[in-house]
Amino acid sequence: MAIERTFSIIKPNAVAKNAIGAIYSRFEAAGFKIIAAKMLHLSREQAEGFYAEHKERPFFNDLVTFMTSGPIVVQVLEGENAVLRHRDLMGATNPANALAGTLRADYADSFTANAVHGSDAVESAAREIAYFFADDEICPR
Ligand code: PPS
Repeated sequence: MAIERTFSIIKPNAVAKNAIGAIYSRFEAAGFKIIAAKMLHLSREQAEGFYAEHKERPFFNDLVTFMTSGPIVVQVLEGENAVLRHRDLMGATNPANALAGTLRADYADSFTANAVHGSDAVESAAREIAYFFADDEICPR
């Protein structure tokens, strides 16, 4: 098993329901190390840049509007097979399909307000981490 890094967002609806600590506990209980973290309120420009690959999709405007609707918490998680294990912990993108016990089953409010984001591959994780964190903000241990 390879030690990987993945990028995670706790989205505005989960921050609004005071679930940051509960979700961090779930990350740590699953064996991830949180090696970088910060809270921020995205501008439209930042959100559009982050989701640029989806800009032609019909939900793009709704996604950007939601992601700029309140503060988010972004973090880098490190651990064995982190990208896939984090996707499993999150559950399906559409919370209607998320398995019981996953973060989206527990904290999503709708397809748009689906509580968390996680990178879908090691390559996208590297790009997403670099979008939000400078090298000196990452603290492996
Ligand atoms: S994936 O894994 O990237 O292919 O997932 P995908 O289904 O393509 O979704 C990409 C992101 O868009 C969000 N999404 C939506 N937002 C609002 N409305 C609708 N209908 C919708 N469909 C997908 C989805 O939550 C993904 O956001 P992130 O932040 O990457 O999880």
